[in-house]
Amino acid sequence: MSDSLKPGHADVLVGLQYGDEGKAKVIDIIGDRYDIIARFNGGANAGHTIETSKGPLALRQVPSGVLLDKCTLYIGSGCTVNLGMLVDEINMINRLGIDLTGRLFISSRAAVIQPHHLEVDRLNSGHIGTTMNGIGPCYADRALRMVDDRRVSISVGDFLRDSESAIAAVSANAVAYGNASHLTDRVEQIKAAVSQIKPYILDDDLYMVRRVQAGANVLFEGAQSVELDVAKGSVPFVTSSHTIPGFAYVGGDLPPKYHRYTIGVAKAIVSRVGKGPMPCELGGEQSATYCAAASLTTGTREREKKEYDPKALLASSDPFDVGMALRILTGEYGTGTGRPRRIGMFDLAQLRDSVALNGVDMVFINKCDCLGLYALTQQGTIPVVTSYGDHQKKVLNIKGFAAFEADTSAARQFSDLPNQLRDLMSFTEEALGCPLLGIGLGPSRNRNVVRLDLLDGSRPTP
Ligand code: IMP
Repeated sequence: MSDSLKPGHADVLVGLQYGDEGKAKVIDIIGDRYDIIARFNGGANAGHTIETSKGPLALRQVPSGVLLDKCTLYIGSGCTVNLGMLVDEINMINRLGIDLTGRLFISSRAAVIQPHHLEVDRLNSGHIGTTMNGIGPCYADRALRMVDDRRVSISVGDFLRDSESAIAAVSANAVAYGNASHLTDRVEQIKAAVSQIKPYILDDDLYMVRRVQAGANVLFEGAQSVELDVAKGSVPFVTSSHTIPGFAYVGGDLPPKYHRYTIGVAKAIVSRVGKGPMPCELGGEQSATYCAAASLTTGTREREKKEYDPKALLASSDPFDVGMALRILTGEYGTGTGRPRRIGMFDLAQLRDSVALNGVDMVFINKCDCLGLYALTQQGTIPVVTSYGDHQKKVLNIKGFAAFEADTSAARQFSDLPNQLRDLMSFTEEALGCPLLGIGLGPSRNRNVVRLDLLDGSRPTP
């Protein structure tokens, strides 16, 4: 880590499946090799959890490098910002004894979530199953720019330059929407947040370029995942921003000439929240319908834990039950929303396409320890999707491994892994055509096998 005369480089880390692959954990592991960790898309729809000595820290908008005290945290122009929620997040981080002054910068060009965005998203969310954070309507207003004589595209920098006019514009948009009293309350919340946010706003388009030219290394942190890209994902069941690595150099305010590696993060227990295709889903349509209905209520995690015996479900012949058991046992519920996630088989066919389409150089696979649970199923094997040829799913059943926890707790390198898992990971590398940067064997920082040496060196020639 240094700002020297030699220009630095940028790596881009993205999720390769449907979001929630454990990107924040990987950033926590590799982040000390970088000077800047930057977000380039999305906003409070993201939920990134980092394990700290004081318990899990759930981040929504602040980049995941908060625990790395030498790291600059940058929120790029491609992001949306909910000012009130950001103040709450900064205060939560402050309470952990972490001061973000001089470390956190928000591009003045980032778009502001306005009260009516939340309302529009709330009313329309059902069809897609959005997180209801107003992200889609905010990006839509950015593209609309003006409606009649009203400016609907409001950026963070508008509050820096002329806070009163910016508040007036936000109010005018709320009034045009219907001026419901709770929208007025939300305008007041924005007003209250502005003074606390101002010190973090950066009105300097060249900031990232200058830092990298001076030697800083950047890690771009993707939110959501490539399958949820607004154009390249499973449209329309996607988020409203570009999540693919190429967009890091638009929304992250740096020219692509500094790009070095693209790092993909996936997990062995695949999950998806919201609607949309998920060909590897355990229980298929039944699971999708159940999760959609359960997402409309709160407390599903507690209810499922109380109502079901996951070990009995695991032994069922019905894949829907197996999916539910894996959700309960591996904690697959939305960080921000608490929604139950749909659960799928380890899907090498989807991953292989994601890797190829996005030029991924290396992959970190989380939740490999959870594959051990398949040993408790009726078949005792791990189902792995290997292709979708002729619209027919091909599933390979690999022998499961028992007593998994005991087998991996001491694993520090690939050779320490149980034979079956090591073989599965070699098979995965071959199928994906790129090396594995790491294997997650538990949520904590030290329960992973990582090949940090893959991050040494310069951009490989294609
Ligand atoms: P939106 O991003 O709130 O508009 O939601 C659109 C779709 O993206 C929905 O299916 C969400 O569940 C999904 N989505 C948004 N953010 C995340 C995330 O951080 N992880 C997983 N899915 C997400």
